[in-house]
Amino acid sequence: MRILVIGSGGREHALCWAIAASPLCEALFCAPGNAGIAEEADCLDIAADDLDAIVGFAERESIDLVVVGPEAPLVAGLADRLEAAGVRVFGPSAAAAALEGSKGFAKDLCRKYGIPTAAYGRFTEAEAAKAYIRAQGAPIVVKADGLAAGKGVTVAHTVEEALAAVDAAMGAGAFGAAGAELVVEAFMEGEELSFFALVDGEVALPLASAQDHKAAYDGDQGPNTGGMGAYSPAPVCTPELERRIVAEILEPTVKAMAAEGRPYKGVLFIGLMVTDEGPKVVEYNVRFGDPECQVLMMRLKSDLLPALVATADGLLKTTDLRWWDDEAALSVVMAAEGYPGAYEKNTEIRGLEAAAEDPDVTIFHAGTGRDADGALRATGGRVLNVTARGASVAAAQAAAYRAVDRIDWPQGFCRRDIGWRAVTREQETG
Ligand code: GLY
Repeated sequence: MRILVIGSGGREHALCWAIAASPLCEALFCAPGNAGIAEEADCLDIAADDLDAIVGFAERESIDLVVVGPEAPLVAGLADRLEAAGVRVFGPSAAAAALEGSKGFAKDLCRKYGIPTAAYGRFTEAEAAKAYIRAQGAPIVVKADGLAAGKGVTVAHTVEEALAAVDAAMGAGAFGAAGAELVVEAFMEGEELSFFALVDGEVALPLASAQDHKAAYDGDQGPNTGGMGAYSPAPVCTPELERRIVAEILEPTVKAMAAEGRPYKGVLFIGLMVTDEGPKVVEYNVRFGDPECQVLMMRLKSDLLPALVATADGLLKTTDLRWWDDEAALSVVMAAEGYPGAYEKNTEIRGLEAAAEDPDVTIFHAGTGRDADGALRATGGRVLNVTARGASVAAAQAAAYRAVDRIDWPQGFCRRDIGWRAVTREQETG
């Protein structure tokens, strides 16, 4: 098969790594890719949002499957364009990608179909949003309706903070058109969990559990990021909790999307809060989590490629996935100093070969490029995902940090406590 992956981050590196290992993969391309992906795939000078160029390449090069990593091209209709051109695609239509593209759509769907989530209001007028916030009090969550590159959510601990978030989105236009409408919802107390399933329009196949760390600094302190690390399995996701998530959230969501005439195909990433009342939807995402994808790929025993094809072809009913059940995986994100704020670009990274010598360690690139001399340079905020397998989360954590410590990148930083919840639980249960 000839495969084209869309995207340029650590998630796409992990997908390329898994696809390249498939005996079914004859040629692998990535648009646009990065320096790490270039070791697995032919990287193309095509941006992930250049829909015309992607469709043109796929047709010209007889691509058998396009795997779309990020949400923005899906919300913009890439899957629809590819299907119309007769190219098989892993990823939802624009109508189905509204689950992530419009927070208001997702909340209304939950309300209509009785899927547990926080109480909320939708607003197109700042004054109405503010009145709702004053009436509800804090803590309260203010979300831009549209895609805001992971920055559109404010968890406000005071009413003033929530009012300022409304002004930032609707007055100052901090998120452009994505913030012209807001969802204001009740703050949920509990532990966050990322739940993933492949969905073929009708059938859902849950993947292994994972948890990420969104705060920039140790102790879950500091500004929100795209994710500073992840691990799998997530011990909070007991078999009983998984049964509830599947029965109360995943299956009703898949049925609801079909009933709405927006059958969902692709990977569905449900951000959950595990509350005292049970699991509730925080948000839906129409893509793999990043860096959750990296740890899932490290634990996947089966060939990924046939599962992606079965998802696209509506054949998940006959698909089964095997995992390295007795192994955990953990990924530490190395980011440029200053991220998620301003940071320096093009700083040099050395020592990756030595760091990746341990056979349990794989380093996925999230934001790298090579200069004319072949030196590795940091090109983004999140730059490397140092990922390791081990017999427990604690063992994977130790291996990942041993590798981190061998990387020579003075302008980078990482959290030193990725996986702390799982490691604590492992210690408690012996
Ligand atoms: N790690 C969270 C996300 O991908 O949205």
